[in-house]
Parts: sequence; structure tokens; C-alpha cells
Amino acid sequence: MTESSSNDESVKPPTWFEFVGQELLKERLMVHIKAAVIGKRPLEHVLLSGPPGSGKTTLANLIPPALYFDCPRLTLNGVGLDRKQLIDRVCPPDFRGGVLIIDEIHAMAKKDQEFLLDLLGRGYLGNMHFGWITVIGATTERDAIITPLVDRFPLKPEFEPYTDEELGLIVQGMAERIDLDMTTETAQDLGRACGGIPSNAKQFVFAYRALLSTSGKIPEASQVLDLCQVDPDGLPQLHRRDDNRSSRPRPAGVLIKSPRDAERCAEVWMRWMGFEDARLTPEGPDSGIDVISRRAVAQVKAQTVPAPLEQIQRTYGIATAEQREHALFFSLGGYTPQALAWGRQHGVALFEFDLQGEPEAKSEAARRLLRDGLT
Ligand SMILES: Nc1ncnc2c1ncn2[C@@H]1O[C@H](COP(=O)(O)OP(=O)(O)OP(=O)(O)O)[C@@H](O)[C@H]1O
Ligand SMILES: [Mg+2]
Repeated sequence: MTESSSNDESVKPPTWFEFVGQELLKERLMVHIKAAVIGKRPLEHVLLSGPPGSGKTTLANLIPPALYFDCPRLTLNGVGLDRKQLIDRVCPPDFRGGVLIIDEIHAMAKKDQEFLLDLLGRGYLGNMHFGWITVIGATTERDAIITPLVDRFPLKPEFEPYTDEELGLIVQGMAERIDLDMTTETAQDLGRACGGIPSNAKQFVFAYRALLSTSGKIPEASQVLDLCQVDPDGLPQLHRRDDNRSSRPRPAGVLIKSPRDAERCAEVWMRWMGFEDARLTPEGPDSGIDVISRRAVAQVKAQTVPAPLEQIQRTYGIATAEQREHALFFSLGGYTPQALAWGRQHGVALFEFDLQGEPEAKSEAARRLLRDGLT
């Protein structure tokens, strides 16, 4: 690396093995990569989802070289990508097959996403056919991707929060790539200040270099944070693993025998997710809301039939009218396809209870609440 480089490329991990963290995700993905190489067949389509700055684009671009040394690849961005541009770009000589990366795939309009279905299904884009194709999508908003397209990706790895230690290693790796001497302690301090997001490490590393070259002295972490105008405690921790709900003891199962049991169960789970003031609304004529909290409203349906669209819309409508940030829906009998699609599009947290009262997430908003709790 040249010392003058100050762009993103210069600090990016150049290989799969230098990509720090996401160990389980990488391990699982590597099983499929190896199987594809051994079987001499294309890797299944992969949809990577995770919070902004978590490393999706970087990892997506590290998959083709992990498959084959000179694996053909084309990277496109979903922002403004329509049907016509797809046909123009995804064709010889730019692309004859191999790996097609579509970054920010959720940014494509729904009708253009539909156009991709045949490519992922049968390898057709319009009347072009690709015998060998793997599509890798990267997204921060899985809910904004049409369900049939999400379903066409056999592999859907989700990024997990990084630990502070991993972020320290990310800072250290970036510093090494631009030939900076940095102590492990400083790297760890800066890693802790990243707020759980690897992309924040870049500004710290570049500020460290600026201080070093202007003063000629090894900077302290506090000076770096000061230059970046970041509070000495670091950026707010958005996605740290310690905050992860999954490490907390989950509520005990209860057998749901009546509608009130289901409502009580929803109340207990909402408190666990972080809605600490969640409480049942009084029994009586159905107002449409069964559990309320300062930041959320929830409706609970204990019927064994799928909850219909109108009920989801009603809960969402009440949340909006009462200015509560979260609309939650718990259903024992699942959801109609229309209810699912609409709820996902509008960010409703859709849960399905099993008979032991364990909620399963049916939308990204619900997944996030179960995984990270209130943030
Ligand atoms: N696990 C990691 N190890 C080392 N560096 C990383 C890692 N994850 C991200 N980075 C670095 O952080 C920066 C941001 O990563 P990247 O652009 O891949 O994130 P992203 O999830 O695609 O973000 P966005 O949602 O904004 O598109 C890059 O400079 C990358 O080099
Ligand atoms: Mg990206």
C-alpha cells in the first residue's frame, strides 16, 4: 500500500481471511463455497443482510475470489438500477456468467426486482441465458425486497453484532494496511469507540495518521477521538453483542389455552424486548389493541386462522395515529400472504406464537426486536 492512499480501498481487508468477525456466518458460507468448488457447480444465490457499515459490500466482493482464483464477476448497485440498465450491463462482454453482485438490492423498484426472478430461477434475463450464475445481493432493508425474490435466495446470512474486541482488530488491520504503527491498546480503545460499526473505524485510522504525520508523535486514542469530535466514551453503541437479547434468559414457555393467555404472553415478551412499561389493556370491547407501552402498541390474535390484512393495517393505523414508534402483532394462526407482505413493507413487527407461547419473527422488524431489543 502507498502511504498517501486515503480511500476506502486502501483499508479494506483484501482476503476472506483478513475479514474480521462474523465467524459463524463465514464458517457456514464456506461450507457452501467449498461444496460448489468440489462439485464444480455455481454457488447458490446469497442474500447478505445487516446494518449499515457492517461489512456486507466488503464480504460480498470477497466471495468470488474465495470460489475461484479468477472467478468472473460484475458488481452493480441497486440504486437507480432498472430493467433497461440491467440488460445493458449484464451482457457480454462485461458479463458472460459467473458472480453477479447487486449491492443495495432493496433500492431497486419493485417491478425491476420482479424482473430478477427469472434470472435467479432459470438463469434468464430477458432472452439472454446464463448457464453459470450466482447472484449475491447485499441489503440493509430486507423488508423492502419483494418476498418472491427473497425466496429465490437459498442462502440468507444475517450479520451479527461485532464485539468490541473484533472492532479493535478491525482498527488494527486497517492501520497495518496503510503502514501505521499502532499499539494494541490504542486499537482496542478506538475499536470500543466505533459504536459497533466497522465503517466507523476508518475515520479513526485516518485521523490517527493525520495526527502522527503532523506532530511526529504517536497519538493517544483520546486525541484521535477529539480530532474526530467523538465523545471520549465513543459513538453510541448501536449493535454491540452485549446488548443482544439472545444472551438474556428468555421468558419461560406457557401453554396458550385462552385469548387472555396469549395476551399475557405477548406482554411478557414485549418487556423482555425492552418495552419495560408494556401492559395489557383492560378486557372489554375489542379496541384493536391488547398490549400498550409508551413506544408501542400490539394486537394479539389467539385464533388458529391466519390474521388478515385489515387487522395488521388497523394496528399499524393506531400506532401511527398515537405516534408510537412500534406496531407489533402476535398471531397464533400465522398470517395471510397479503397481511405478511403489507406488514413487512410497512415495518410492522409480525410474530407467530407456537402453542408454548414462543414468538417466531415473521418480519425484519420482529427479527430485530428479538435479536437487538429496543435500540
Ligand atoms: N469485518 C470486517 N473486517 C475488516 N474491515 C471491515 C469489516 N467490515 C467492514 N470493514 C470495513 O468497513 C468499511 C465499511 O464496510 P462495507 O462498506 O463493506 O459495509 P456495508 O455493510 O456494505 O455498508 P453499507 O450498508 O453502508 O453499504 C469498509 O472500509 C471495510 O473495509
Ligand atoms: Mg455496502
